[in-house]
Amino acid sequence: MSQIRGIRACLFDAYGTIFDFASAARRAEGVPEDQRGALTALWRDKQLQYTWLRSLQGRYADFQQVTNDALDFALDSLGLASPALHARLMALYLSLSPFPEVSETLRALREAGFATAILSNGTPAMLEAAVRNAGLETLFDAVFSADAVQVFKTHPRVYQYSLEKLGLEAAQVSFQSSNAWDAYAASAFGMRVVWCNRYGQRRERLPGQPDHEVRSLAELPALLAPPV
Ligand code: LAC
Repeated sequence: MSQIRGIRACLFDAYGTIFDFASAARRAEGVPEDQRGALTALWRDKQLQYTWLRSLQGRYADFQQVTNDALDFALDSLGLASPALHARLMALYLSLSPFPEVSETLRALREAGFATAILSNGTPAMLEAAVRNAGLETLFDAVFSADAVQVFKTHPRVYQYSLEKLGLEAAQVSFQSSNAWDAYAASAFGMRVVWCNRYGQRRERLPGQPDHEVRSLAELPALLAPPV
């Protein structure tokens, strides 16, 4: 497999890529076991739809509110509406489990000389809590939030913002996301992209073409030529 050359920084999507968003419904006592999957899927789908719809409408609300509204919709749809369960799930969203290979992969990348950072729709407070609760705070050089530009991915301004903060060109950044739509958009923007296709998604019929598709971030270090 051909290595990607010229990379200086590895940039990661957060939810679904670093953090397992399914771990919230798994750990919330009030969610019946047979509804965990449906709640996770509906909450996530609605959360993403709201980011895109709000961006399209020019009516930004931060990811905390979008996540809150999407959870409200999902609990209501499944007949699970309860203020206590809502509050519990929102609290659990701040301490999602990281995927098992994450810390070892970040360590390997940093040892090889890459900078590591997150670029996420999450608010700075949500991301700070998630990174800290997962014990990853020493493994990221920076955490960038779309909140700084008041629009969500896939708006190019979000990807551009991370380049400005890193002081790098798009071709010097390897972007990793488990979300196909995010991976394709970052590629169309000009970044090199490793699509971490954890969920076995089909390829998007959208602009962009990820450089590599893997199933786990553990495969990432071997795909990148170390910085010289
Ligand atoms: C993020 C979500 C969209 O972290 O996965 O940006």
